[in-house]
Amino acid sequence: MSTPQERAAAARKAAEEAARVAAEAAAAAEEAERELAEQQAGAGDGAKVESAAAKAGETAAVADEAAVKAGKTQAAAEKAEAEASKTQAAAEQAAAEAGEKQPAAEPASSAAEEIAAGYAFDGAALELGTVVVDGTVDPAARVRIPMRTMNRHGLVAGATGTGKTKTLQGIAEQLSRAGVPVVLADIKGDLSGLSQPGAANDKLSARAAETGADDWRPAGYPTEFVSLGTDGVGVPIRATITSFGPVLLSKMLGLNETQESTLGLIFHWADKNGLALLDLKDLRAVITHLTSPEGKEDLKGIGGVSAATAGVILRALVNLEADGGDTFFGEPELDPSDLVRVAGGQGVITLFELGAQAARPVMFSTFLMWVLADLFQTLPEVGDVDKPKLVFIFDEAHLLFADASKAFLDQVEQTVKLIRSKGVGVFFCTQLPTDIPNPVLSQLGARIQHALRAFTPDDQKALSKTVRTYPKTSAYDLEKALTSLGTGEAVVTVLSERGAPTPVAWTRIQPPRSLMDTIGDEAIRSRALSSSLHGKYGQTIDRESAYEILAAKVAAADETVQSAPAPGRSKGDEDSTAERIMKNPAVKSFLRSAATAAGREISRSIFGTRKR
Ligand SMILES: Nc1ncnc2c1ncn2[C@@H]1O[C@H](COP(=O)(O)OP(=O)(O)OP(=O)(O)O)[C@@H](O)[C@H]1O
Ligand SMILES: [Mg+2]
Repeated sequence: MSTPQERAAAARKAAEEAARVAAEAAAAAEEAERELAEQQAGAGDGAKVESAAAKAGETAAVADEAAVKAGKTQAAAEKAEAEASKTQAAAEQAAAEAGEKQPAAEPASSAAEEIAAGYAFDGAALELGTVVVDGTVDPAARVRIPMRTMNRHGLVAGATGTGKTKTLQGIAEQLSRAGVPVVLADIKGDLSGLSQPGAANDKLSARAAETGADDWRPAGYPTEFVSLGTDGVGVPIRATITSFGPVLLSKMLGLNETQESTLGLIFHWADKNGLALLDLKDLRAVITHLTSPEGKEDLKGIGGVSAATAGVILRALVNLEADGGDTFFGEPELDPSDLVRVAGGQGVITLFELGAQAARPVMFSTFLMWVLADLFQTLPEVGDVDKPKLVFIFDEAHLLFADASKAFLDQVEQTVKLIRSKGVGVFFCTQLPTDIPNPVLSQLGARIQHALRAFTPDDQKALSKTVRTYPKTSAYDLEKALTSLGTGEAVVTVLSERGAPTPVAWTRIQPPRSLMDTIGDEAIRSRALSSSLHGKYGQTIDRESAYEILAAKVAAADETVQSAPAPGRSKGDEDSTAERIMKNPAVKSFLRSAATAAGREISRSIFGTRKR
């Protein structure tokens, strides 16, 4: 008797035997009692009656004993059975983990119903689509995400062209209808279609019907188009350097960890002295100062900045300016509350258009991380809510994590972990789930996995790894499912209202109601120009900051400078002005005094962004 299964079988057999003995004994006792009763009734031989009575008593005792024994054996059998089923579950789990095939599926219809039962929530839910089993879709078997767990975050992944963007579009639409604002990175411009009703056709109507979108009809949604800085097609959005902070700026500049920590020191010095760095030229002026002999004095106590490292940072800043960085670092700075708006009961969808910055997508995604960190700082704690306050969607999320420093990754993890309690849901969209670092991946409650390819050994590895992140399922062979999903289909599991993973569902996704295409740059531009945000952010403000203050001082002290730099100056002028500034004794004394006087010390929060 080695396995628990065998032990359970043996115990069950013993219990049955004991029960049989007990039943026999009970029958014998009954027989003896009946005999006794007959004899008493017949008032026959007294000795005979006595012996029959004794016999009946004895037999009854035997029956009782057998019954007790049977009961005990029964309990033992039950215990052994429980143990066996536990071991069975463990074995199944191990088999699942080893990537072994699951037992064959049950009949299609009941399997779909069973899966859908795991998606029947009490509260409001976002409809994803309907269950497919063995290639057949069941229009009644719905797959949904509870609104209540949208702040438990999610992942939308899949190979190119498998339907990720359309899935995001559908999610954004439903959130908007539910009055939840959405922030979306529009990398390819194809999400701009959210602003216009889609074109109805028979194919889409048929898809709507089979995916449970019974009330499907074309619809557009309230959208805002924004861009990084003034080079884009949308309303220009900016951040100040001070607010952006050293960790995100390092990521944007592609600095290594040593350079990153040097940049941290530079910010630290400026913060301590309340020096607001509004734009890139402010930062350049400060770096130039800190690497000058006078600056070395200022750095005492907070470590050193090597001239070589400072040189690398300065060059990276110049490159960033050439890529348009000088148009999105500055003022007016984005007011995060402009992203959390509701119009006519519908959540406003803010689309960050990559557009002109297509060459620097890392710059773009890092800026979006700042937006998220800034939202984190300004939104109040709300705990668990019936529907999210905002959902933030990172498309092409791999750009965020590729070549990221440990400091950066830690901060992403922290932000994602903590922003939940502010009622914000974060969805990452990427080709491979393995693009997302594990600590972040484990925070994502909803998984919407579109088709994966398995061409190369690396693909295969990513595939098996993905399979292992799903709950156990008997309805599908997951590895096969993930490579044979159709366009606009995904393997889904989400968190139920109670926070438990829902059954794995091969899901056909509902079609979006808005246009499944870009509306074009011209249309985006004209919408941006007529937006209420345009008045607030349309014009760059060049407020007096470190650079201007210093430049004015130079102008006053240095007779060779005829006038202070005027707006519209060229970069060459700026560079030579910056140099002159740093050499000027008046400036040197200003920077020295800044170390003692100046403004309030600036403190930093998540990602090293400025605390508001
Ligand atoms: N839910 C859906 N309903 C209807 N059609 C869909 C759906 N999902 C995808 N499609 C069709 O598949 C096409 C490709 O989808 P989509 O653009 O979302 O792919 P993607 O995964 O974002 O690709 P890429 O990685 O290239 O951005 C769409 O243009 C559309 O025709
Ligand atoms: Mg896409």
